[in-house]
Amino acid sequence: MPTWVQLVYLACAVCFILALKGLSGPKTARSGNILGAIAAVVACVVPFIYLRDDLKHIPLILVAIAIGTVGGVLGAQKVQMTQMPQMVALFNGVGGGAAALVALLELEHMGSSTPWFDLAATAFTIVVGSVSFSGSMVTFAKLQELITGRPIVFPGLPIAFGGGLIASLVLSVLLVNDPTVLVGVVLALLGLGLGLLLVLPVGGADVPIVISLLNAFTGLTVAAGGYVLANTVLLVAGTLVGASGTFLTLLMASAMGRSVANILFGALKGGSTLGAGEASDRPVKSAGPEDVAILLGYADRVIIVPGYGLAVAQAQHTLRELVDVLIDRGAKVDYAIHPVAGRMPGHMNVLLAEAQVPYEQLIEMDEINGDFKHTDVVLVVGANDVVNPAAKTSPGAPIYGMPILNADEAQQIVFMKRSMRPGFAGIENELLFDPKTTLLFGDAKDSLGKLLAAVKSL
Ligand code: TAP
Repeated sequence: MPTWVQLVYLACAVCFILALKGLSGPKTARSGNILGAIAAVVACVVPFIYLRDDLKHIPLILVAIAIGTVGGVLGAQKVQMTQMPQMVALFNGVGGGAAALVALLELEHMGSSTPWFDLAATAFTIVVGSVSFSGSMVTFAKLQELITGRPIVFPGLPIAFGGGLIASLVLSVLLVNDPTVLVGVVLALLGLGLGLLLVLPVGGADVPIVISLLNAFTGLTVAAGGYVLANTVLLVAGTLVGASGTFLTLLMASAMGRSVANILFGALKGGSTLGAGEASDRPVKSAGPEDVAILLGYADRVIIVPGYGLAVAQAQHTLRELVDVLIDRGAKVDYAIHPVAGRMPGHMNVLLAEAQVPYEQLIEMDEINGDFKHTDVVLVVGANDVVNPAAKTSPGAPIYGMPILNADEAQQIVFMKRSMRPGFAGIENELLFDPKTTLLFGDAKDSLGKLLAAVKSL
């Protein structure tokens, strides 16, 4: 590989690291994303220049790139914010599948003289890439509601999974000793089966975390592929994806107060994977938009707690308008951001940024939790679990141990939701029945529109 290519690859690797750094803050996320995309394009173009005399099947490669580009652009333009996890799953899965296919093709060029470590990396790429592909397809199907979101378990599943793992280890050793395409294909099929068995028992609501885990798998697969192909930029990019995916998985699991093992294997042990709960018929205090407008319009300190329902209702613009009016009336208003509010990492930040909410108004949980006791009104918009005191008080609850926003410490709490159905965790929220709590029933967008009009007319 010529020196200039190695230097360009080094520059791309640095850009990927800077891109990740940029993605860690809302102000720099867009530029980070663009930098990463440019580096990826450059890394793809370079082989066309330095291998131009040896490169075969150029039309085929260009057609594949064109199909991928059209699919990516159309997908990115059409997908709704709430469908982002599915899209990530799909892109992640094809990445893992592509790495596995490349490794399978590389087997053609390998033989008894190939170093054992290269062969082991190839076996790893084939099996983990296949797991990532089939697992990601199941997560996509679950989130897109093409199959049931409930855990799918059957007797003997743990044995089948364990047996599959052992068989894939044995076949990998076989491949290192005798690198034939046939063994590689069997290994890939086994990997596809393992991916299915890994993800089918996961409840739909836990799927975003599994997507992040599979993302880490794909990263490691691509890194191993980069090693086999002696391609540094692939090695670095794969390692970065593997490391960041692993961190994200652990952070999400800990923000939900659960272990990754419980999320993956909870359903096998029985009952610990979350599911949909029943609507409560206990009496609650509810009010109309006019009454809530009076509460809000004369408050000095207001905290907004946005949640998944805000994203479902696409009410972020109306919410921002309401907050602007309250600030104009002299109130101090902030948004309290829980790390796992919504259904994907950073969901609320992205949603509110779309409505041009200033970043300074988005306050992270640890920073704002001390403010609730000095707050006149907390407006909970389509959130539930992230303010559920059961996380502190009910050791048996699935969210027990999850840090929550201390909305219960405020003078008044207003919940905006459509019904008495529970949130993601499927459990009742005692705060809904608190004497300080008022419910404003209805779709968040509709209710916020009425609330805005009522506050304006005060
Ligand atoms: P949830 O606890 O799921 O509560 C959402 C609430 O929104 C529900 O009470 C629902 O009640 C209401 N809602 C739904 N559509 C609405 C609409 N159109 N208008 C008004 N209200 C609506 O959400 P949360 O508080 O954001 O908590 C997030 C949960 O998801 C946590 O348990 C977290 O662990 C989990 N989770 C998060 C992630 C990430 S990374 N963010 C990933 C996986 C799981 P109604 O149906 O009665 O309206």
